Amino acid sequence: MNAIDDLAVATLEQKPHFVETPYIQGVAGRARDYIRAGYPIHFSGPAGTGKTALAMHVAALLGRQLIVIHGDGGFGGADTIGGPMGCRSIKVIDKHIDAVPKREATVSKPWGDKRLTTACKHGFTLIYEGLTHARPEANKVLLSVVERRLLALPDPSGEDAYLPVHPNFSVIFTSNPEEYTGAHPTRDALIDRMVTIKVGHHDYETEVAITQSKSGLSWQQSTAMVDIVREFRTLGVNTGRPTIRACITLGRIAAQRDGGVAAYDPEFRQLCREALNADCLKVTHDGQIAGIERLDEIIARCCPAPTPVPSSKARYACAPAPQGAVNFAGLRG
Ligand SMILES: Nc1ncnc2c1ncn2[C@@H]1O[C@H](COP(=O)(O)OP(=O)(O)OP(=O)(O)O)[C@@H](O)[C@H]1O
Ligand SMILES: [Mg+2]
Repeated sequence: MNAIDDLAVATLEQKPHFVETPYIQGVAGRARDYIRAGYPIHFSGPAGTGKTALAMHVAALLGRQLIVIHGDGGFGGADTIGGPMGCRSIKVIDKHIDAVPKREATVSKPWGDKRLTTACKHGFTLIYEGLTHARPEANKVLLSVVERRLLALPDPSGEDAYLPVHPNFSVIFTSNPEEYTGAHPTRDALIDRMVTIKVGHHDYETEVAITQSKSGLSWQQSTAMVDIVREFRTLGVNTGRPTIRACITLGRIAAQRDGGVAAYDPEFRQLCREALNADCLKVTHDGQIAGIERLDEIIARCCPAPTPVPSSKARYACAPAPQGAVNFAGLRG
């Protein structure tokens, strides 16, 4: 049997730079309560809305070890449950009767647990990313785990074999509804047995707090980044993008340059165009693609002059930065 370590079991502590605003505390607290009441949780939302970060945070709140499965990795039954693995050979030489030594050799494939079995057996928290991509056989297995707290194990003899699921086992699913692919009875049956928490873009103060925490810029500079991204998000046909990732990218690069955030700075404007992929925006003006012009207007509105660099402290709790990490805000303040 393979060692549990081989299956990437993690013990989670709250991640450095994870931000807990009232919005995050509200969602995470509800999720923890639903799990404690015995229900699987499902964070459903578009790309970049913080589903994975939330799942990891809730897992840390539960305080148990964690295993992650990616439904989009082509996982089927044997990939999540396990099966015969490797090869074990045993040779027996029986010298009981000296004159006629008896030799016997057997070759067998011992059973090896995979991630779902390990989590069910030991009561770990399972994060199942990309539920909508999961293969039907994976959904079928999960249905029995969620509904009856029994994991059906494949048995070559044809008999049903079930592993009782550990009482501490819990599962957090994530999915992106934009990636839904038609009707899927086992997936829909599974979703019916969990609590789905719909997540959208973070609220304004959470986006600013995340940008500040991940970039080290001041609160005021982070506000300018978020203002630019949020206004740009309302243009074009795909209103979900750019996401918080663009705020973080802008913030980190601006901090690495020197923290200058001003519309008059051509390098900053260029950074915004590239980080926000502005020339791909499908906004037209007189038949011309007008993403870059619209972005320049937005930048001029959001940061007309260099933002001062006050001594800034993060307004919201985040875990202390790892030792040796450079805190830009602290250095400049
Ligand atoms: N509360 C938070 N504190 C700090 N950073 C966060 C927080 N929430 C989200 N982030 C950051 O925002 C970015 C997007 O979050 P995440 O990867 O969780 O989104 P997602 O919804 O899982 O996206 P996708 O659908 O593309 O997988 C990541 O860089 C993540 O670290
Ligand atoms: Mg994710």
